[in-house]
Amino acid sequence: MTRARIVGLGRGVPEKVLTNLDLEQMVDTTDQWITERTGIKERHIAADGEVTSDLAAAAGRMACENAGVKPEDLDAIILGTVTPDMQMPATAAFVQQKIGASHCPAFDISAACAGFIFGLGLGDSLIHRGNHKRVLVIGVELLSRVLDWKDRNTCVLFGDAAGAAVLVPEEGERGILDVEMHTDGSYTKDLIIPGGGSVNPASHASVDEKQHVVHMNGRQIFTQAVRNMSRVSLSLLERGGFTADDVTTVFAHQANMRIVEGVSHRIKIPLERFFINIQKYGNTSSASIPIAMSEAVEEGQIHDGDLLLLTALGAGVSWASALVRW
Ligand code: ACO
Repeated sequence: MTRARIVGLGRGVPEKVLTNLDLEQMVDTTDQWITERTGIKERHIAADGEVTSDLAAAAGRMACENAGVKPEDLDAIILGTVTPDMQMPATAAFVQQKIGASHCPAFDISAACAGFIFGLGLGDSLIHRGNHKRVLVIGVELLSRVLDWKDRNTCVLFGDAAGAAVLVPEEGERGILDVEMHTDGSYTKDLIIPGGGSVNPASHASVDEKQHVVHMNGRQIFTQAVRNMSRVSLSLLERGGFTADDVTTVFAHQANMRIVEGVSHRIKIPLERFFINIQKYGNTSSASIPIAMSEAVEEGQIHDGDLLLLTALGAGVSWASALVRW
């Protein structure tokens, strides 16, 4: 059977680090509060002039190199982001130019923190269609540019970064086994950047009213994340005829350590089998899972034949899980 297999991973992380102690100087917060409530100790923040497509291109180049695939041989670039370079054109088009890819289709998808898994689902479909052999999937976010740095409820949570994976078709049992994706539009208002689109076009008033920054109902998102990441993971395992014991490593979206703990409890997979790096990066939205996978591979924590469970939820709310036989 032909499967889409991840043959290379990469990440693009800005150099600058912002610690919880730095944040103590900026808003009314403490290292203790952030650590206890989220698990985050520090996050990376893009430098002035460093843009979303720069981080995405760095991750994409590294993924191609690790895959042994030349960027000019890519057949498609799928990029998940809610912080594009510009409203138009797609950030993936800038990335295509920056990495020297061919004139392959290059497009963005908007599924927020679930963007990488949605991208994997699409990439998997393109590969099964047969005429796309090398697909680059990128999750990238530069949320520091759309945060209200005076709002302690949101600004302490996020970091900037990109992660990427190259998919190729391969005969056999290794690769993406299944992907399940969902959206429930009744929670759109709970995580939203209301300005800049057709509803609230940019204006002096929209800037004054802070419509161009992230607004979040943290508790609602927290509840949605634990519930839906768990449900979709269990659904995927059941459909594949697997149990929790079969899963070697879980790559759960690194949003909040307590969300990860909640998912671990509900799906009955102990925390020791979750890969955790939230302390270093904060919530990098669609980049968090490919960054974690890229680090896990580098550290020798993933082995041939391992069963990996990926799961994430983000604005929409949209959520998804994927099962991968490594
Ligand atoms: N420092 C100090 N105090 C703070 C801070 C801060 N940075 N932020 C909030 N507080 C205060 C609040 O004002 C509140 O004070 P009050 O009781 O006097 O009103 C108190 O801390 C408790 O606030 P809660 O909202 O109840 O805190 P909670 O334990 O729910 O944690 C958090 C808040 C971390 C935002 C949590 O709800 C969360 O992680 N939600 C998920 C949000 C998320 O991950 N969003 C990212 C995108 S979606 C995704 O990735 C899944």
